Amino acid sequence: MLFEEYNLADVKLKNRLVRSATYEKRADIDGFVTDSIIEFYCDLAKGGVGLIITGNVLVHVSGISVPNMLCIHNDYYIKKLKLLTDSVHNYGGKIFIQLVHGGRQCFPSLLGGQSPIAPSAVYDPSTKITPREMSNEEILEIIDAFVSAARRSVEAGFDGIQIHGAHGYLVNEFLSPHTNRRTDYWGGDEERRFHFLEEIYELMRKEIGYSVPIIIKMNADDYVDRGLTQYDSLKIALRLQSLGINAIEVSGGMYESGNKTVRLNILQPEQEAYFRSSAGLFKQELNIPVILVGGIRSKTVAEDVLHKNEADLIALARPLIREPDLPLKFQHGKDKSDCISCNGCMRFFKLEVVKCTQLQ
Ligand SMILES: Cc1cc2nc3c(=O)[nH]c(=O)nc-3n(C[C@H](O)[C@H](O)[C@H](O)COP(=O)(O)O)c2cc1C
Repeated sequence: MLFEEYNLADVKLKNRLVRSATYEKRADIDGFVTDSIIEFYCDLAKGGVGLIITGNVLVHVSGISVPNMLCIHNDYYIKKLKLLTDSVHNYGGKIFIQLVHGGRQCFPSLLGGQSPIAPSAVYDPSTKITPREMSNEEILEIIDAFVSAARRSVEAGFDGIQIHGAHGYLVNEFLSPHTNRRTDYWGGDEERRFHFLEEIYELMRKEIGYSVPIIIKMNADDYVDRGLTQYDSLKIALRLQSLGINAIEVSGGMYESGNKTVRLNILQPEQEAYFRSSAGLFKQELNIPVILVGGIRSKTVAEDVLHKNEADLIALARPLIREPDLPLKFQHGKDKSDCISCNGCMRFFKLEVVKCTQLQ
């Protein structure tokens, strides 16, 4: 099943393996595509993955969360992003762009000393930062930034767009009752907390029409007190489905929930696919494609998830840092990724570029 073709909206994928968004730290200092990024993504395309989702790409300068991330907050970026999509297409690959604003999980050192912005001024014990509450005008400006980024993404030739609505970044912060304590149009009950994402999605569609799919990565569970749980998230997913979103990638956790998103030491099959039950719940209740990410290391587990109808597509991040050609290896009989989930690749501020640092 893993190597059957799959149609994600109108995008034909050669198999059901997805490279989940993975920041590369390979953009230049101003966020432009470099030769290193093109080479890196061509290796993924050559390695046989059905769909590549880029690392997080910045929609507005106030949302930079990591150094040397790709940017799309200005038309100047389109030309080089087009070189990237052309290169991936030349190898028969399909590529979606992940659009992000880092919200409260940004560091003042990357913001020229400014405090990060967020729906509400809720202290983050993991970064020890209290963000500044956004004004109504700022909220409208960031929505507009997502919409302009979507237009640029289409011009740059991406096959689809993924809104980063997970992992405690800005979109997740609006959805979550933990980080959104507002009492105006943008906060309060679940319907009002949904307004920010709803406006982004609806205005993106108005801007780009239905020419490319729009999907989302979202948390099933925030794993913090007062945060979203999987039943809250399911309601959000149902709202998104009724708006017409094309697929949902199920993840979880935020910085302050600890190692919930990118879990360590996934060595046994029972540890794999750690968001599997949430994806299964989403699959039961939704009619749109569900993508499962998180700790999938073996072909056996991936196939089992598909056979049990717990997801439609299987996404991998760390295994493809270690082995960009893992899909081809799976196809030729290998069963298990060499990745030991040591998270050496996550030392963003130490590594020159994101890469596997495992010794063996
Ligand atoms: C080095 C690194 C960078 C990541 N960057 C992103 C990112 O830009 N956007 C995102 O949604 N998730 C990001 N993640 C999370 C992964 O997409 C994925 O959800 C997580 O690693 C679990 O999948 P895995 O067990 O296959 O690695 C990153 C993970 C790693 C290890």
